[in-house]
Amino acid sequence: MFKKIIEAEIIENKKIAEGIYRMAVKAPETAADARAGQFVNIYLRNKIMLLPRPISISRVYDDVITLIYKIAGKGTGELSAYLPGEPVRISTSLGNGFQLEDVFKETDSNHNLNKVKIIALVGGGMGVAPLVGLAQKIMNEKEKRSFKDDDLQVIAIVGFQDEPILMKEFETCCNHVYIATESGSTGLKGNVLQLIERKGLKPDYCFACGPRPMLKALANRCENANIPLQVSLEERMGCGYGACVGCVCRIKAKEEGVKSIRKKVCTDGPVFFGNEVVWDD
Ligand SMILES: Cc1cc2nc3c(=O)[nH]c(=O)nc-3n(C[C@H](O)[C@H](O)[C@H](O)COP(=O)(O)OP(=O)(O)OC[C@H]3O[C@@H](n4cnc5c(N)ncnc54)[C@H](O)[C@@H]3O)c2cc1C
Ligand code: FES
Repeated sequence: MFKKIIEAEIIENKKIAEGIYRMAVKAPETAADARAGQFVNIYLRNKIMLLPRPISISRVYDDVITLIYKIAGKGTGELSAYLPGEPVRISTSLGNGFQLEDVFKETDSNHNLNKVKIIALVGGGMGVAPLVGLAQKIMNEKEKRSFKDDDLQVIAIVGFQDEPILMKEFETCCNHVYIATESGSTGLKGNVLQLIERKGLKPDYCFACGPRPMLKALANRCENANIPLQVSLEERMGCGYGACVGCVCRIKAKEEGVKSIRKKVCTDGPVFFGNEVVWDD
């Protein structure tokens, strides 16, 4: 995949929750063709950290992209000290992103959705970051097609350890936001799977990002209920652009006699259909 590194200007780098930051950067080339679910590689100033850090593009407005990141180690720790007005080296947008066409191909000649009436965006922890951009994109598509809420509803089903993030953003773009926290501080005490169960939610199409066990359980549930699911896998990465094979995942093979094939999450993904991933890796 073609990779270009650009120097972007930091507009904002603000703490939005304990250990979690929102960085807005002016990056026209990255913003120009960014899709919801794509990511950027961030190249740190400390050259000891040779490998770039992949972070999902959360939202795009004009020539600005926003990134929501949690301090996980040295790299994201360094990032949190960058100041507005300073430059940051990032790649242009990488990966495939969510395929919204798969939902909207179901439109009939009257531009009404035949099958998909409720889309669920299911996020766990930092996995909510790319789903905000997706919610915005779906809202724009609805407006473009003059869809009413009766034609298509978008619900967010989000889970956190304790403190929810990005709630205002989801509430602006979604018809309903369902929340679960492990601590019980907000919404249902438990996880997103329990939330779906408890609220009796029955989406027709799901998009998800979050910890692998959550994605695996959701994929299992969606497969049993025949609900299409796209998942964004945030595996550990090396180079981030297809050269090192440090990010492979197994995908069910279509050819007879072959169980699975290996795909690179950074270039073939990070988004895959839930029913094509081999979850017991
Ligand atoms: C496609 C993609 C999109 C991502 N989007 C976001 C995002 O929007 N926001 C965000 O906060 N993080 C995101 N991540 C995770 C982020 O890249 C890592 O947290 C970051 O690289 C850690 O760098 P570090 O130097 O701070 O920590 P390191 O010192 O490299 O690692 C610190 C700890 O974090 C763990 N870790 C590192 N990378 C990952 C990973 N990919 N998944 C799980 N654990 C990891 C390590 O095992 C270690 O325990 C994404 C990852 C991928 C692959
Ligand atoms: S991270 Fe190097 S090939 Fe994917």
